[in-house]
Amino acid sequence: MSLLSRLQNDQVVSPVITKEAATSRYLDIVYRIHREIIREMGQESLNNRKREDIESKIRGISDTIFESEYDNLPRSEREVILNQVIDEVLAYGPLSPLLRDDSISEIMVNGPKQVFVERRGKIEKVKVVFRDNLHLHTVIERIISPLGRRLDESSPMVDARLPDGSRVNAIIPPLAINGCVLTIRKFSKNLLKTADLIRNNTMSSHMAKFLEACVKGRMSMIVSGGTGAGKTSTLNIISGFIPHDERIITIEDSAELVLNQEHVVTLETRPSNIDNRGEVSIRDLVRNSLRMRPDRIVVGEVRGGEALDMLQAMNTGHDGSLSTAHANSPRDMLSRLETMVLMAGMEMPMKAIREQIASAIDFIVHQSRMSDGTRKITHITEVVGMETDIITLQDIFIFDQTGIDERGRVQGRHRATGIKPKCLDKLKTAGIIIPDEFFA
Ligand SMILES: Nc1ncnc2c1ncn2[C@@H]1O[C@H](COP(=O)(O)OP(=O)(O)OP(=O)(O)O)[C@@H](O)[C@H]1O
Ligand SMILES: [Mg+2]
Repeated sequence: MSLLSRLQNDQVVSPVITKEAATSRYLDIVYRIHREIIREMGQESLNNRKREDIESKIRGISDTIFESEYDNLPRSEREVILNQVIDEVLAYGPLSPLLRDDSISEIMVNGPKQVFVERRGKIEKVKVVFRDNLHLHTVIERIISPLGRRLDESSPMVDARLPDGSRVNAIIPPLAINGCVLTIRKFSKNLLKTADLIRNNTMSSHMAKFLEACVKGRMSMIVSGGTGAGKTSTLNIISGFIPHDERIITIEDSAELVLNQEHVVTLETRPSNIDNRGEVSIRDLVRNSLRMRPDRIVVGEVRGGEALDMLQAMNTGHDGSLSTAHANSPRDMLSRLETMVLMAGMEMPMKAIREQIASAIDFIVHQSRMSDGTRKITHITEVVGMETDIITLQDIFIFDQTGIDERGRVQGRHRATGIKPKCLDKLKTAGIIIPDEFFA
């Protein structure tokens, strides 16, 4: 079991350090004891000993220092410091309490003296600091080196996935001007489910039922939205609606999707090695997947030329495929797709590209992170077809924002627009009936 997952399971380090304790109050004492431990035990022996041995050794050394230099520190405070020392020696230093805290979904370290986290959708600054940039660099190394990755002048940017599914990105000077920058998207242990999204008003129950019908009826869909809007979470949920007797191939940069169906093949890209060779891109995997007899292809995110391969797949019998992409609105999603298709490097007239898009994609599900940190599916928009050179869209469900209450919470409701989707006939042929009142 990895250190991180042990840490997160809380099996090892005894009491969870409170947010308050994770501040810089006692950093000097922590570092003083840490230095002493390294001096007495040496890094080598730290790496090779059993955890329990090291912990009891740390206790011994700390007690001696407390008695001789800080004898007026109360017991409770000593315990706090001791835990910070244990984190320093055996875990990820100042990051450890943040990694253990399940209410934190994202950790953003902007150089040694500035750390932000995202909690319940809101970004806040925390009082966590590193001694200096070298300290931060050491912690980052400790995170990525067990994954076989390194971070130095020749590879100053690293993207990695921890064994527990968390996503890590690190970039160091001189590319990052103010010191090492580390971003961790923590893997949520409680994967969001349809019921959660209805309960927290990400969507209405009618919208959920409609999306389920669309997936079952093999509509091809793209979940669009900004960074951290919840696209992957929503993709995960709607992929869950794919019937169990279909063969699903998922393609991702770092495997985030967790599907419960039995027949799932998971593919993950590979970055190039030190000599810039051996890269396997999303596009390579999409192409390869077509030779793997998929019923459905689920692509974690389309960003470039793979969009063309996806569209072609959707247009040639692999309908019902699903993906996400970055965009500010359903309409913006269309222009992003055009750009991505152009990135494939094929000479294609714009009209032909638009025709591909219009016939491949049935629905755009647009999700936003609202000003109060909540996530909402703001549009379920049907791609209707082409009118002269323009792709026509119609909103089927939208979120109607009416205002913001005195506590900053977004007010409004999800509603049908009154337009009946064009796909109803196709769904009906597949034996899927949606009551008319859904769209009233
Ligand atoms: N509907 C939701 N309600 C509340 N929290 C959500 C919801 N969807 C996602 N989240 C939380 O938001 C964070 C980002 O979610 P997710 O990874 O799905 O977003 P994303 O749009 O795919 O991000 P990225 O742009 O980085 O790929 C996660 O911590 C997740 O738990
Ligand atoms: Mg995502």
